Formats: sequence, C-alpha cells, structure tokens
Amino acid sequence: MRYACEPSVVIKPFGQTKDGQRVQQYTLTGAGGVVMDVIDYGGKVVRLFTPDRNGVKADVTLGFNDVAGYEIHDPYFGSLIGRYGNRIANGKFVLDGKTYVLPVNNEPGGKPCSLHGGTKGFDAYVWNGEPLSDGKSVGVQFKMRSPDGDQGYPGNLDVIVRYWLTPENVWRIEYEAVTDKATPVNLTQHVYFNFKGEAEGAILDHELTISADRMTPGNVGLITVGKRIPVKGTPFDFTVPWQIGARIEADDEQLRFGGGYDHNWVLNNQDGRLAPAAALYEKSTGRFMEVWTTEPGLQFYCGNFLTDKVPGKRGKNLAYRGGLALETQHYPDSPNQPDFPSAILRPGAVYKSVTEYRFSVK
Ligand code: BGC
Repeated sequence: MRYACEPSVVIKPFGQTKDGQRVQQYTLTGAGGVVMDVIDYGGKVVRLFTPDRNGVKADVTLGFNDVAGYEIHDPYFGSLIGRYGNRIANGKFVLDGKTYVLPVNNEPGGKPCSLHGGTKGFDAYVWNGEPLSDGKSVGVQFKMRSPDGDQGYPGNLDVIVRYWLTPENVWRIEYEAVTDKATPVNLTQHVYFNFKGEAEGAILDHELTISADRMTPGNVGLITVGKRIPVKGTPFDFTVPWQIGARIEADDEQLRFGGGYDHNWVLNNQDGRLAPAAALYEKSTGRFMEVWTTEPGLQFYCGNFLTDKVPGKRGKNLAYRGGLALETQHYPDSPNQPDFPSAILRPGAVYKSVTEYRFSVK
C-alpha cells in the first residue's frame, strides 16, 4: 500500500517553562496525512493539521505558540489531564475511611471544587517523552511519576500515555497507570476542536452525535448530583446529529447552569470495549471525526468560558465558544458517588484506557 506521506517523528526545542524546564516538541506526521505538534509540557497538542474535503490542511485545534501562552492562559488547551479529570466536589473525598483534601481551584456558581487534578495537574508537568514507531504508525510516549501526596492524592502513581497517528488518520491515545496506594485516577485529553480552523469563529455550526441515552445532571456548580437521567426530548439528546447551536439557548436548567453544554454523558457502551462515543462534522469543510473510547463517560464542553480576548496561534483572537472538547472519562465526582462506576485504582491493578479520534471527510 502507498501512503500519502512518509511517517515520521521530528523532535525540536519548543522553549522553556517559567521555572526553567526545557520543553521539547514532537512533530508526528502520519502516513495518512494528519500532522500534529505535541509538546512534553502537559502532553499538549499544540497544532493538529487535518485535510478538508479538497485535501487542504488546516490546524483544527486551539493552542499557543509558546510555553508562556499556556502558563498565562489556562483553558487546558490540548492537555493531558490528571490525576482526576473533571470536578471533585468541595475538593474532598473519603477512601477506605480516610478523608483526602485536594486543592480547590474552581468555583462555578459559588460551589468550590477541585478541577482537573488541582492547581498543578498533569497538564503542568514536563513529561518524559520518547518517539514511537512501529513501521506504519508513529507516535510519542510520555511517562511520569506523580508522587505520593501530589495535590493531596494518595500513592505514587506511575503514568504512561502514548499518542499514535495511524495511516488511517486515527489519533489513538493509550493511558496506563499503576499505584502503590489506592487512589482515584481519571485521565483524559482536553483538546479543543474547531473544524473550520483555529481562531475561525465559534463551533455552534458543528454537528455532533453522542452515543448516549442518558447524562449526569449537575447543580449550579456543575457538580454532578449523582443521577443518570434520560436525554430523550431534551436539548441533551444527541443520539442523532444536531447542530450544537440549535438548542443551546433553550429554556433548560442544565444549560443555564453550564452557560451552554458542559456536561457528562453516560455512554451506551459500558463494558470497557473500544466503542463509538461521538461524531463531529463541519459541513463547509467536510471534516468529520469519530470518537471511540473504552471509557463509560464523555464530557462535552463547548467553550462557554472562552473569550474573544485571547490571541490564537496566527495572531487572530479566539472566539467565545471557539472550540469544543470531547473528554472521554469516568463520571465527574465519582470518588464521592458510590453508584457511579468506580474510578479507584488499587495497588496490583493496572489502569488502562484507550481513546481514538478518527479523522476523515464527508
Ligand atoms: C470543564 C469546564 C471547564 C473547562 C476548563 C472542562 O472540562 O467541563 O467546566 O471550565 O474544562 O477549561
């Protein structure tokens, strides 16, 4: 088989963090033509070029040209998220009879929580990077140890994350972790997509499908109330494709709490197989993407906290709702919700999770 491109990984310096750590960039060129620039600082995807239906490539993700951009603005652009993606109510949980206290770094609606791992989550670590290749696919492996007590979490957690780009234009993410004390773990990727291109306006015209008959409603602080409710007949029903903007202004309490979509869906597949979770389509460019995951949940966040004050990578300012994230995950606040699938990793067990973003055109 002939490929569109010769697959390769090219490594070069990207800059340094404000505390002087050097940051490397890995440019992955997939045989199918997708190209991504990834940095070892937070495993961030800085740029992601995919072809439109005429074969013209554009960068379809939000990010910054330098480390300072990421240090100053903090919407988790392109980042690996851990130790616990999403919110933990009041920054507290009880595990095996002991109470653990986490940094409170977020307070929507006046309700405090610990968001995306705390004040220094995995998005702010410089990981140990290594290029990967199996002859067809190329990638990068990131490794690090989050020490016992890191951000209040118990146990030394050894984490490996691999990004692969396949000849079929699939960005595959493999997560693995082991611990020496029981701890919550919920790893995800916070890439923001805009299929018209970065800084090309809002994503309200993108069409989204989510393979979920239920979602977990939140309170005014976007903290789950521990329920799974049907989406049928609500603006949260994406079981068939809907334009994101079509119902976003509907008179709905959940949309008011989120300032738009910022919720977790209960995926129909709950058995840990790699299965379809979502699909995203932008009709002017033809860009189409399927999301597959082994995870039981998906946070769809449509950039309600983004503003038009922040410059993007080409000098143009980003837009309110200028990107959307589809974060595969266990449900928010699972450590405090005994009825939700457990997000606790115990010594001797291996945390494994796989997500694929499959790019194509229609
Ligand atoms: C959350 C949003 C939060 C954002 C931070 C998303 O995963 O759902 O509520 O504001 O991350 O960038």
